[in-house]
Amino acid sequence: MRRKVAILGATGTVGQRFIQILRGHPWFEITVLAASERSAGKKYREACRWRLETDMPNEIGEMTVVNTRVKEVKEAADVDLVFSALPGSVAGPVEEEFAAEYPVVSKASAHRMDADIPLIIPEVNPEHLGIIPVQKKNRGWNGFISTDPNCSTIQLAITLKALMGFGVKQLIVSTMQALSGAGYPGVPSLDIIDNVIPYIPNEEEKMESETRKILGTFNGNSIQPANMTISASCNRVDVKDGHLEAVYVELENKPTIEEVKEAFRSFVGEPQRLNLPSAPEKPIIVREENDRPQPRFDRNAGKGMSVVVGRVRSDPIMTVKYLCLGHNTIRGAAGAGVLSAELMVAKGIL
Ligand SMILES: NC(=O)c1ccc[n+]([C@@H]2O[C@H](COP(=O)([O-])OP(=O)(O)OC[C@H]3O[C@@H](n4cnc5c(N)ncnc54)[C@H](OP(=O)(O)O)[C@@H]3O)[C@@H](O)[C@H]2O)c1
Repeated sequence: MRRKVAILGATGTVGQRFIQILRGHPWFEITVLAASERSAGKKYREACRWRLETDMPNEIGEMTVVNTRVKEVKEAADVDLVFSALPGSVAGPVEEEFAAEYPVVSKASAHRMDADIPLIIPEVNPEHLGIIPVQKKNRGWNGFISTDPNCSTIQLAITLKALMGFGVKQLIVSTMQALSGAGYPGVPSLDIIDNVIPYIPNEEEKMESETRKILGTFNGNSIQPANMTISASCNRVDVKDGHLEAVYVELENKPTIEEVKEAFRSFVGEPQRLNLPSAPEKPIIVREENDRPQPRFDRNAGKGMSVVVGRVRSDPIMTVKYLCLGHNTIRGAAGAGVLSAELMVAKGIL
C-alpha cells in the first residue's frame, strides 16, 4: 500500500517539484495539496503558476488546495506523511503543529538546527535519524520533524563526506547560485540580468553551520557537530537551475589527485545499498573536461540527483580544489525530501 502524503507549500517552486517527483511514485501517493490563504479553496491549476517544463498532471490540476492547517488537511483526506515546502518564516510553528500528529519531512530552515531534529542527507548521515525517538520523547509528539539541508549545503556535504577518510580540516566555498533557489517570482529580472548579486541573506551562515551538523557524530542522545572550519561566500547568478560551487579543502592526509577523484567516484551510501527508488546510481559523477561541470549541461545528471564534480586539482594553499554542481530544486530540495522519506520507509520509521 502506498503511503498517503500531503504537500505544504504545494504551489511553490519546491512544491511543484514534489508533485513532479511523487507522481507515479511506487511508495507514496499525493492526497492533499496545501498552500496559503491566497490559494485555499481554489483548484490547483488556478492557484498555481506552474513553472516546470513537464505539464501539470491533469488530476493534480483538478485537486482543491486547502489551507495549511492540521484540521483542514485532516478533513481533506487521510495522510500518513507531510512534506513541507513552506517559507522558513512560516514553517516554525506550523510544522510543530503537524508533527504533533504526523511525520513531517521539511525543506524549510526553521527547525534545521534544533538539537533534537535531524538534518538528513541519506547518503551522508542516515544514522542521525536515530535522534527521532529522543525528539518524540522531548516534545510529546505522535509524529516528528526531519529536515533536509539548504540546497547549496547538500551538494557540498555530499562531496565532503567522500573526503572524510582523508581528514577534512577546513574549507572555503564560493557559490554561484541559480535563480530558482530564491523561489517564485524570486529575484526581479532587472536586478539579475547582466549581473551577479554577491549576497544571499543568511545563506553563508546556513552553509557553515548546517555542514558541521550533517558531518557531525550522533552518540545515541545528541549530535556533536564536526570539528572543522568552514568559510562560505554566496552569490546569485543569472542561471535558472543548478548551483555551481568552487570548493577549496585542506586535508590532514595528503592524497594524490587521483586518490581524491577515486574517493568521489567510488562514493555510495545507504540509498544505493538499499536501492531506494530515487537514489542515483552515482551520488557523485566526476567529469574530466576542463570546462565542466556547467549548469546547463550537468544539472540533470542522475535525474537531477547526482552531484557533478570537475576540475579536481591540487591547491597551493589548501590541499585540493574542485567545482561541484547540483540541481537545487531536485537534489537540493524536493528530490532530497523524497529520498529522505524513502530511507525512513526502508528503515521502518515510516
Ligand atoms: N527553491 C529552492 O531551490 C529551495 C531549495 C531548498 C530549500 N528551499 C526551501 O523550500 C521552501 C519553499 O521554497 P520555494 O522556493 O518553493 O518558495 P516559493 O516558490 O515562494 O513557494 C512558497 C510556498 O509556500 C506557500 N506559502 C507562502 N506563505 C504561506 C503561508 N503564510 N501559509 C501557508 N503557505 C504559505 C506558498 O503558497 P501560495 O502560492 O498560496 O502563496 C507556496 O506554495 C523554503 O523554505 C525554501 O527556503 C528552496
